[in-house]
Amino acid sequence: MLSRKYGHGEIKLFACNANPQLGKSIAHHLGVPLGNSTVKQFSDGETYVMFEETVRGLDVFIIQPTSYPVNDNIMELLIMTDALRRASAGRITAVIPYFGYARQDRKDRSHAPITAKLVANLLTAAGVDRVLSMDLHAPQIQGFFDIPVDHLRGTNIFSKYYNEHLKNTGEFIAVSPDMGSVSRVRTFAEKVNIPLAIVDKRRTSPDVSEVTNIIGGGDIAGKNVILLDDIIATGGSLVNAATAIKALGAKSIYACITHAVLSKDAKSKVENSALEKLLVLDCVNIPPERCPANLEVLSVAGYFAEAINCIHSGKAISALFD
Ligand code: R5P
Repeated sequence: MLSRKYGHGEIKLFACNANPQLGKSIAHHLGVPLGNSTVKQFSDGETYVMFEETVRGLDVFIIQPTSYPVNDNIMELLIMTDALRRASAGRITAVIPYFGYARQDRKDRSHAPITAKLVANLLTAAGVDRVLSMDLHAPQIQGFFDIPVDHLRGTNIFSKYYNEHLKNTGEFIAVSPDMGSVSRVRTFAEKVNIPLAIVDKRRTSPDVSEVTNIIGGGDIAGKNVILLDDIIATGGSLVNAATAIKALGAKSIYACITHAVLSKDAKSKVENSALEKLLVLDCVNIPPERCPANLEVLSVAGYFAEAINCIHSGKAISALFD
């Protein structure tokens, strides 16, 4: 599928350690091999990156979600970028399917940092020329970069799944588990032509939240529910929403979550919840011991490969956002 038009030199893909499987799948879709690189840690914890081939003048894509361990994965990406820049790569695109620290995107109280902006500054300072990401926690994070950012939507993959597997199995309603996801869920609901309800969630501390109300909850009884969100971390937001929705008489509840961070006891919370199935994308690599039994993983590899092909060959990418 790779278009052979080289505005910035031949294409070269590298994957660091955060999600090598996704790197391999993207490379497979594009029909190009992954470049040989070594990313290792010294005994004192310092990261070392080395690649064994020339990158001079090439159009380089580094695939690295900045998921757990977040700081190590960010350092790998920064150091890899530095090495590529010093080796005269023609253009460097950071492919960051999951952008960590995105939830620290504003100064929500005095003395708080805006770490998402700091990470954006670090990437640019290291030499990244452009960024390709998916479902940034807040779309405005694109503006934290003064370089081009292409922002893919998980709803495109979830709506395809809905149309192929769920659509004809009953009546559905899409539910946003908080105010922050309303526009994402509205896009999905409009795409697949189903109604929408909204959970009013209050966060009492970084890892604890509670449901205070469900706007449009009167439409939930007897329906199948699709909860959509960008991230599942501790699972609190999702599982609390599922409990409240079940109490309103939902027939079944599916969750479609782009980034499966699955921290703390998320696995057991999800397994013991009212959720029929947790559908996630493979932006984040999930170790087997953190996978809930009712988890299904859908791949973003083909979608990212198409986007990389557009960027590489200078074709419009906007069609992929719809
Ligand atoms: C918050 O605004 C996000 O969209 C997610 O709802 C949140 O990050 C999920 O976190 P947790 O799973 O820990 O409740």
